[in-house]
Amino acid sequence: MLFKFPPGFLWGSSISSYQVEGGNIYSDWSSWEKENKLTPANEACRHYSLYPADFSLASDLGHNSLRLSLEWARICPEEGAFSQKEIRHYSDVIKELRSRGLAPILTLHHFTNPIWFSKKGGWLTSKSIDYFLAYVRKAGELFKSQVNYWIVFNEPVVYIYNGFIKGLWPPGYKSFKKAETALKNITKSYILAYKELKRICGRDDCKISIAKHIRIFSPCPHYNLGQNSPPCYLRNKIFNYSLIEMLLKAGTLDFLSLNYYCKEYDKFNFSLFGKECKENHHRERKNTLGWYIYPQGLYEILMRLKSYQLPIMITENGTSESEDKLYEDFLFKHLKAVALALKQGVKVIGYMWWSLLDNFEWDKGFSPRFGLLKVNYNDFKREIKPFSLFYKRICQNNGIDI
Ligand code: BGC
Repeated sequence: MLFKFPPGFLWGSSISSYQVEGGNIYSDWSSWEKENKLTPANEACRHYSLYPADFSLASDLGHNSLRLSLEWARICPEEGAFSQKEIRHYSDVIKELRSRGLAPILTLHHFTNPIWFSKKGGWLTSKSIDYFLAYVRKAGELFKSQVNYWIVFNEPVVYIYNGFIKGLWPPGYKSFKKAETALKNITKSYILAYKELKRICGRDDCKISIAKHIRIFSPCPHYNLGQNSPPCYLRNKIFNYSLIEMLLKAGTLDFLSLNYYCKEYDKFNFSLFGKECKENHHRERKNTLGWYIYPQGLYEILMRLKSYQLPIMITENGTSESEDKLYEDFLFKHLKAVALALKQGVKVIGYMWWSLLDNFEWDKGFSPRFGLLKVNYNDFKREIKPFSLFYKRICQNNGIDI
């Protein structure tokens, strides 16, 4: 049976500037890579110069939209100074996208900060709010008439967890206290950015949100006498929904932006949040990163989000696999979950595959391969992966056989 998605459904994929552009030497990730001897992003996918060809490929793949981000450190490489060259660059980027009929979904912060900002204390100082707002205003002025969907922060909870609690990402702290301060400043920045963008755009169709990573937390069923459930309950409440609920209360979400990848098993270990269980004794298969693939989870989350009564855009969903048929299987099952949720009256307005390109995967370097397009890192040539043609047919038909 052919299931038709609603008219005007947004079909596309997502990228983020640092992960694809290359040459982002003013961003804190670039110094972090050096300090920690990590695989450097270097030229990444050379998207900074190859973007017109990448957008043509996205359009050939049936996209009608693309989620991308601005690199704050390019636009503002020094405190108080905006680069005219980079402003022109991003204006050309947005123009190129729109000229191909691709609606831009614009992220303003996708994990990276300017080095000068980090040196001033980054998100740990309340000055961060003013610094960030100056950049938001600039972006707002530049693109107010060209962008309808704005995502101010990508996955702030993931960013804070990895950067302030686990110490895996810059600024590399392991402190709950610091994490709390950073979250407070990011939340305040978001609320003010929302108001500023609304004022600057001055249109009803300017929609603003925060991309929220949500995962299924499930009690590890092994040796479980009920003790594995409380950590999952807490993780679900705190990591998945608390920020959304706070921003809803503040009246500062126009739509919900959902990034969904996988299920996580957790077990009891005498700490508040318990411990993740990565053993092989679980039912679901794992992708190349060891993530448990659970398409039903997307349906469950969409049904839960329905209660917030806002349109929902799936701004990231994807996987890294060793075989093409596994990508296709992942895509099919997750879109089937979206179709089921739509049938239940959930207002899903778009679906973005993560990612358009195989890209730089932060601390994991270049080995994970999430792209619709394979990138050859010797000559930067792109190649369409077979499963992308399956996705293309769905986008073009605005429908899927389920
Ligand atoms: C992030 C991306 C990342 C992807 C896959 C998402 O949570 O937004 O930047 O590449 O996960 O790891």
